[in-house]
Amino acid sequence: MERLQKVIANLGYTSRRKAEDLITAGRVKVNGEVVTELGTKVDGDALIAIDDVLINKNVNYEYYLLNKPRGVISSAHDEEGRRTVVDLIKTEARIYPIGRLDYNTTGLIILTNDGDFANHLMHPSFEIPKTYVAKVEGIIIPEHLTKLKQGIVIENRKVEIKRIKVKRKDYEKNTSLVEVTIVEGRNHIIKKLFGELKLPVIKLSRIGYGFLTLDNLKSGEYRSLSIKEVKKFYSL
Ligand code: URA
Repeated sequence: MERLQKVIANLGYTSRRKAEDLITAGRVKVNGEVVTELGTKVDGDALIAIDDVLINKNVNYEYYLLNKPRGVISSAHDEEGRRTVVDLIKTEARIYPIGRLDYNTTGLIILTNDGDFANHLMHPSFEIPKTYVAKVEGIIIPEHLTKLKQGIVIENRKVEIKRIKVKRKDYEKNTSLVEVTIVEGRNHIIKKLFGELKLPVIKLSRIGYGFLTLDNLKSGEYRSLSIKEVKKFYSL
């Protein structure tokens, strides 16, 4: 048995303080009954609703944000027995990654066992901005940026660049570091894009996915998404 405000906060719905306000305002129901007393204890099976919307009906769904290391496969299983992103997360749930990052690409990837959520995020009409940092061989010049902004055609489709910023040019090593945001999810798209400009990608990392960033997660670390974050994706 746990205190109701703690359960609500642990579900990621809101802070404990705000949960208390919701309870005293009479907006919280436990098993269909309004509960206004702070400190009411509830058991793990209790159905909790806020403004008549159940907030724990999907407790068996899990959502993770992982900072994928290099040398890990973005799938649930690998025929060759290589380490997968799923192997890095301690859970019994049958989770899988949403979209993919290449074996040698690092960074932000979401995993879940919620098929609706995965379909929602992968749907082409749902143009989620994804931000990558690429280290490329060669020095990026203004002509490259102009071409990228105009839209380079890859396999009969233009790649729309939402934002691009050159972070560093290393003339000694002949490399450039560039941050680029796109909304599509075709495989190897960033490598193909810079490949068209004869700027081969040496290193690639995804640092942003929609409103999510890597925050302080180190390589191989992960955290759960809160219900609030999951809901936010539906409201975009
Ligand atoms: N583009 C790529 O080329 N590789 C990735 O892993 C992701 C986007």
